[in-house]
Order: sequence, then structure tokens, then C-alpha cells
Amino acid sequence: MRAIEFCAAVALCIVPSSQLLAADEVSVERGLYVSIIGGCHFCHTEGYREADGKIDPEKALKGSSIGWQGPWGTTYAANLRDSAMGFNEDKWVDHLKNKVNLPPMPWYQVQAMSDSDLRSIYLYIKSLGPPGELAPFYREPGKEPRTPYVTLVPPQTPKKK
Ligand code: HEC
Repeated sequence: MRAIEFCAAVALCIVPSSQLLAADEVSVERGLYVSIIGGCHFCHTEGYREADGKIDPEKALKGSSIGWQGPWGTTYAANLRDSAMGFNEDKWVDHLKNKVNLPPMPWYQVQAMSDSDLRSIYLYIKSLGPPGELAPFYREPGKEPRTPYVTLVPPQTPKKK
């Protein structure tokens, strides 16, 4: 290795980037960040998609009254402010590491998160204020929802030629 390349490599190693340090950070700010890149607001914050990703602090993570209907029945993105009320930070991490939900909740993505991600999401949710109303209750398959809903059909296997 030539000296100039060696210096560049060492410089990269010894200058800690703030992003790398932030990976273990547990904070409300990090929780906001993870909730955005994790897509939680996409379903759990009403009006988020319509507002091109602008979070209304009044509605943030309070759940949604628009159902997701499929072979599993009709589910509603839960009011996470209310969900978090039943847990302390440690129990929240345990709960999310083990919880399997009905579609379209991407529970497998949440299970893949680091403890610091899950702790930060908890702190962020707790910072948001009172939970307000619950999301509508799950409806079994065949039962017509009383709210607007999105229909998700199972993936169609392309026909073989
Ligand atoms: C595509 C929509 C969608 C996305 C994205 C999504 N969720 Fe959900 N989530 C749901 C639905 C629908 C339910 C209800 C599932 C059920 O009834 O089993 C749910 C349920 C949950 C629950 C269970 C709440 C309870 O009280 O039982 C938690 C916790 C949760 N979501 C957290 C998250 C987090 C954290 C993220 C972001 C990383 C996220 N969700 C992203 C749709 C979504």
C-alpha cells in the first residue's frame, strides 16, 4: 500500500462519523428517524400519505380508521400511543421482538430492528402526548367493515407460458 492510500484508510478508521455513533443512541430524535425510515407513519399516522410524508403532530402514530381487508379479515393500524401505554421500555422491546401481527403489519421488519431502534421508537411514542381514541376493532373474514377500507388480494402467481 502506498503511503497516501494508507493515510486515507487510517483517517477513515479514526474519524468517527456521527452517523456511526448514533447507531447505538437511544433518544426521541432517533425514534422519530426510525419511525420515518421504518415506514410506521405510512399506516399508523392518518393523513401522512396524503400530506406527502408531513407528520401532523396531533395525529402521529394514533392509528388509522382505514381498514386493510384480505383473507385475514379487516385489520386497522393500531393506535401506538395506546399500545405503548401497557409497557415499560424493556417490556416494549420484548413485546415487539416476539409479536406477530396480521397483514399488512410488517412485524418481521420490526423484529429485525436493534434494541436501540425499538427503545428509541418507544421514547418517541411516549413523547407524542395522550393516545386519544383507539383504532377501529378488527373484523373477521366475511364481516363487512363499518369504515372505508383498502382491499389487498393475495399475490397472483404469473401463469406459466
Ligand atoms: C402497511 C401498513 C403498516 C406499516 C408500514 C406498519 N404497521 Fe404496524 N400495524 C399495521 C396494522 C394493520 C396493524 C394491526 C395488525 C393486527 O391487527 O394484527 C399493526 C399493528 C402494530 C402493532 C401492534 C399494536 C397492538 O397494540 O397490538 C405494533 C406495535 C405496530 N404495528 C408497530 C409498528 C411499527 C413500529 C411500525 C414501523 C416500523 C409499523 N407498525 C409499520 C399496519 C402497519
